[in-house]
Amino acid sequence: MQITTQSFGTTADDIAAAAGILRAGGLVGFATETVYGLGGDARNDRAVARIFEAKGRPHFNPLIVHLPDWQSAQAYAVFSDQAKAIAAEFWPGPLTLVLPLVEGSGLSPLVTAGLDSVAIRVPAHPVACALLRAFGGPLAAPSANPSGRVSPTRAAHVMAGLSGRIEAVLDAGACAVGVESTILGLVDGPVLLRPGGLAAEALEAALGTPLTTGGNAHKPSAPGQLASHYAPEAAVRLNVTTPAKDELWVGFGPQCAGAQMSLSPSGDLVEAAANLFHILREADSRAGGSIAFAPVPEVGLGRAINDRLRRAAAPRP
Ligand code: TXA
Ligand code: MG
Repeated sequence: MQITTQSFGTTADDIAAAAGILRAGGLVGFATETVYGLGGDARNDRAVARIFEAKGRPHFNPLIVHLPDWQSAQAYAVFSDQAKAIAAEFWPGPLTLVLPLVEGSGLSPLVTAGLDSVAIRVPAHPVACALLRAFGGPLAAPSANPSGRVSPTRAAHVMAGLSGRIEAVLDAGACAVGVESTILGLVDGPVLLRPGGLAAEALEAALGTPLTTGGNAHKPSAPGQLASHYAPEAAVRLNVTTPAKDELWVGFGPQCAGAQMSLSPSGDLVEAAANLFHILREADSRAGGSIAFAPVPEVGLGRAINDRLRRAAAPRP
């Protein structure tokens, strides 16, 4: 079904209109500090099914439930003392916690893919917060892009991928963090399910223990775990210090002065994360041959950046 996607700004009237669309079971793209989300009422089976349909997403992937604070999240997830401490330290922010699901929570089973755990995120972006408060319920929101493609960090990216499939987009400019939230599993012992916008080192310091990583490409527990994801049209090559003639070289740091594009000319990982998905799209539209990325250090946000780049470079299904 083809529908007209409305483009909203971020005034109180825009937020109220978007909340009304969500209450009626519609879908709204909205800014968070990580990437744009595709929001729908997490209690409404039809709304959640439409999220999967709009994205063309495989149904085995459960969705993140967004709430304005951890108190409201308690209606859906069981918080251990450890979960409460982590939430108090890092929420609102680019962190998702996978926690035991509250029985009879009222969430659509499509959101949790029938699991007895649920992923909860309390975003920090003022527009996401305003929308959650105006809507007054749990919002299921994957990244607002067709499944397997590059995540959106601008409203125009959402429009490019989903126009005609969703009711509206709230345009709040570029996302500050630029990569999806870090996912921490706290169901049986802490597990890093997806590196993301919160450095794993910060979580390890708070937990007082090194994190093991979970999930694998064949039995994904988090979608970022699918081997090929975030795929541009062009082929992608990694850790390139000497690009081939026909390659578009994307640098990182001052040593890549000859690069056509750069994740961060000064070598700043925060800036690189914020630029990553936009540059993947730009490079994709400009590349004649493949896209060659310079090495990015595997520390802090570099872990999330390298994770996304490895998936962009993986063999396509
Ligand atoms: O930054 C973000 O997290 C963005 C913004 C919009 O909030 N959202 C996002 O959602 O990246 P999505 O749906 O693309 O990623 C959700 C991830 C999936 O990889 C899913 O497998 C994992 O969360 N997940 C959800 N529920 C889970 C569960 N019960 N156990 C393990 N992983 C779960
Ligand atoms: Mg995604």
